[in-house]
Amino acid sequence: MNILSDVKILVTGSNGQIGTVLIDALRDRYGNENVVASDILFPEDQNGPFEILDITDSSRLQEVIQEHKITEIYHLAALLSSKGEKNIQLTWDINFNAYFQILNVAVANNIKKIFFPSTIGVFGHTTPKKDTPQFTSFIPETVYGISKYTGELWNNYFNKRYGLDIRSLRYPGVISYQSIPVGGTTDYAVEIFFEAVKHKKYECYLKADTALPMIYMPDAVKATLDLMSAPTEKVSSQSAYNLSGFSFTPAQLAKEIQKHIPDFQIFYSPDHRQQIAESWSESIDDSRARNDWSWSPNYDMAKMVEDMLANIS
Ligand SMILES: NC(=O)c1ccc[n+]([C@@H]2O[C@H](COP(=O)([O-])OP(=O)(O)OC[C@H]3O[C@@H](n4cnc5c(N)ncnc54)[C@H](O)[C@@H]3O)[C@@H](O)[C@H]2O)c1
Repeated sequence: MNILSDVKILVTGSNGQIGTVLIDALRDRYGNENVVASDILFPEDQNGPFEILDITDSSRLQEVIQEHKITEIYHLAALLSSKGEKNIQLTWDINFNAYFQILNVAVANNIKKIFFPSTIGVFGHTTPKKDTPQFTSFIPETVYGISKYTGELWNNYFNKRYGLDIRSLRYPGVISYQSIPVGGTTDYAVEIFFEAVKHKKYECYLKADTALPMIYMPDAVKATLDLMSAPTEKVSSQSAYNLSGFSFTPAQLAKEIQKHIPDFQIFYSPDHRQQIAESWSESIDDSRARNDWSWSPNYDMAKMVEDMLANIS
C-alpha cells in the first residue's frame, strides 16, 4: 500500500451512496487518519476521523479544515435530482450557495485540490441524446441540474482566477450494492436488484424503453481516484468531464437479470421521474476523459449484473 501522508482529505456528505464506498478507497490509498469523513449525522460505522459538518455552515467548514490541516476536499454533499424538486430553495442553498462558500474558503485556506461531482443532470432537452458530447447545449430542467451546471462554471472561473485545482466528473447513474440510494432518478437500477433477489418482481417508475447512461460503483471510484491523481498537464477540463460505463433501458436490465433469476418479472408504473429521465442523455461520449487520463471502465452491463447479484444474494 502506498500511503501518501502529505495529503489530508476532507470528504463532505460521506454517509451517502458514493461516500460510503469512496471513503474506504481513499483510506486504503492515503491511510485512515488522513481521510476525514463528514456529514450532518453520525454514520453507522467509521474506521477513521469523522466530523459533523453541515456544509451550509462555512465557519464550521473553516474550523474543520484548520483543525485537520486539510489539503484536498472531495465535496459529495448534495440533494439529488428527484428530492431536489421537492424543495428548490434548499437544493440551491446546499448544492450551489454552500459550494460557492467552499470555493472561497478553499482559496482562503490554500486548499490544493477539490473534487466536485457533477451529473448527467446538467443536460436538457436541447442536448443531443445519443453520444452526448463534452461541450454541448446545457439547459437543465431541474434545480439539481441548474445547481450542478452553475458549479461547473464556477469551477472554471476559480481555476482561471485563483489557480484552484478543481476536478470534476459528470457521473451518470451510479449502481452499487452497499446501500439503496434515495432521491435520484436512476435509483431504479439499484432497487431492482434488491427486489429481484427478495421478491422476484419489481415495479419500475420509468418506462420500459427509457435508456440512461450508468456506471458501476467500482468504476465510478476508479474514475474519481484516477482523475484526482492525474498530472495537471493531463487535465484539460477544469469544469467537468463526461463519464460513462454503459447505457441500458429498464427492459434490457430486466432481461439481463432474468438470465440469473428466470422467474423475475418487471412491471412499469412511470411517475414524475419519467419526465426528468426524458430530459437527460441516453448515452455519453466520454472520449476526452479516455484521451486525457486514460479512462476506461472495467465493467459492462453483464459483468455488473453478475457482480451485483452475487453480492446481494
Ligand atoms: N449517485 C449517483 O447516481 C450520482 C450521479 C451523479 C452525481 N452524483 C453526485 O455525487 C455526489 C454524491 O452522491 P450520492 O449518491 O452519494 O448522494 P446521497 O444522497 O446518497 O448522499 C448525499 C449525502 O449528503 C449529505 N448531506 C445532505 N445535506 C447536507 C448538508 N447540508 N451538509 C452536509 N452533508 C449533507 C446527506 O446526509 C448524504 O449523506 C452528489 O454530489 C451527487 O450530486 C451522484
